[in-house]
Amino acid sequence: MPKIDHAPARRIKDFVRAVRTSGLYPQNPVVNSATTEPVVWVGGRDHLLFCSNNLLGLSNHPGVREAAAKALDRYGLGSGGSRQMAANIDVHRALEERIAEFLGQEDAICFAAGYMANVGSVPALMKLDRYLEIDQVKSVAPMEPGCGPGWEIFSEELNHASLVDGVRLARAEVSRFPHRDMAALAGLLEASEAPSKFIVSDGVFSMDGDIAPVPELAALAREHDAMLMIDDAHGVGMLGQGGRGSLEHLGVGTEEVDLQMGTFTKAFGGIGGYVAGDAELVDFLRISARTYIFSAPLPPSIAAGVAESIDIAEREPWRREKALENAAFFRREANALGYDTLGSAFHIVPVLIGGEAEAAEATRRLRHRGIVAPHARFPAVPLGRARIRFVMTCQHDREQIGYLLKCLAELRQAD
Ligand SMILES: Cc1ncc(COP(=O)(O)O)c(C=O)c1O
Repeated sequence: MPKIDHAPARRIKDFVRAVRTSGLYPQNPVVNSATTEPVVWVGGRDHLLFCSNNLLGLSNHPGVREAAAKALDRYGLGSGGSRQMAANIDVHRALEERIAEFLGQEDAICFAAGYMANVGSVPALMKLDRYLEIDQVKSVAPMEPGCGPGWEIFSEELNHASLVDGVRLARAEVSRFPHRDMAALAGLLEASEAPSKFIVSDGVFSMDGDIAPVPELAALAREHDAMLMIDDAHGVGMLGQGGRGSLEHLGVGTEEVDLQMGTFTKAFGGIGGYVAGDAELVDFLRISARTYIFSAPLPPSIAAGVAESIDIAEREPWRREKALENAAFFRREANALGYDTLGSAFHIVPVLIGGEAEAAEATRRLRHRGIVAPHARFPAVPLGRARIRFVMTCQHDREQIGYLLKCLAELRQAD
């Protein structure tokens, strides 16, 4: 029987057909091998992959696989419920303690994804006054999102979508400040009459690859009695002498930032997210973050594998050093070819193309030359600022990067 042809569904289908015809529909290749390796198998031949987040090569590390396999044997596939019901498993707690120790924070709470960490934590924190209104002790039920009176969030304009969505869900008053513009933020804080202020910013920005001025953010937070949360999904594991992220890289103490958010999906080669900070702040999230309470946690095998990844990342600094050296080499050579790599400074190296159609075409041409590197486009980046977002890992070698540069040079000549 044919499906009923509802008008709303028809409009959506027509739209998708039009996008497909325009050539703008993202044609992500189906990869028939682990996407955590620099060489992947696509459409019956090898391709070079320059967009994997397996930055330190830990996803496939034998020690990590062994730890995950042992946990899979012991605990099985899933977690069996949410942390507040059946699934408060020892490996989850061990991972929280391990990441907190690694970062030098009192405690951490883990979520099934970094996205869930942000989208759950930001609105949760804003609910404090609503708890207090109804008596914090008698009811610590995970209320509907929506903040109590008096909160204003100050959100960096290039924050990751998960932070943006968390901010939206908080239903607080929101002031967006321009990228890295501390004078503008200071002005907004000055003008604010909100009794509770909350500043949220990425550490390393996911689409531009540059870093937030965390010392200045911390100073403004202190001056205006505001809480500060840094999403360091791209910084932790990669930056700083011990790999502790943007804070360590910029010489900011953990005591200067209230909450440090991060993901296990990138440097640590797994999946999952966390928020780390003082024990009471983290415990508050345990009773209020809906993505923690109403969703199952990481599979135990992943939690065990990630804990091993953190150990290896800590023991083997050469991994982040090599990824960053690769990126520095690639950025220098891409700039020499005339490409704008924006303000990127670390392992994420965007190459600005501009138009959406031009970026889609560049991606297709690279793919034709055996390179997988999709372009980032609206709404991930502003319209007219589409870019190919290359990510350099410790597993790429100079020959592979040289080949990519050769293809980029050809792309430029063809323009
Ligand atoms: C800055 C930032 N925060 C959060 C996330 C979400 O992390 P996850 O992929 O673990 O959901 C990402 C993912 O790309 C990110 O770049």
